[in-house]
Amino acid sequence: MSLFDSRPKFPVHVAQTDETYPCAGNESLLTGMLRLGRKGIPVGCVNGGCGVCKVRILDGEIKALGPISRAHVTAQEEALGYTLACRVAPQTPVDLEVAGKLNKPFSKGRAESATASPSIQQQ
Ligand code: FES
Repeated sequence: MSLFDSRPKFPVHVAQTDETYPCAGNESLLTGMLRLGRKGIPVGCVNGGCGVCKVRILDGEIKALGPISRAHVTAQEEALGYTLACRVAPQTPVDLEVAGKLNKPFSKGRAESATASPSIQQQ
């Protein structure tokens, strides 16, 4: 990409972080965010395969850049505005909220297996 990126861009607002970044109409919402080194939408495979970048479009128009897996966004969810940020590009200013798996409190199981007692060897 050239130093002077003259592509027309649309402002994309992320509800959770209250951040707005410009995204070109031919790049995905996720790519636009990453290009600017921003955070807000969780980043995974960037290829429609993992579902962590799931968002809900609250306002604005988008276009699909590739197929969106039904494993991550059901037809019912799509009708409600859910989509994958790595698979859609803005066509107007967009207002979205993060809706993916990582929008849950982080919790890790305790590392109990690491303290398991050693097995006793039989002779
Ligand atoms: S980052 Fe994996 S589906 Fe979008």
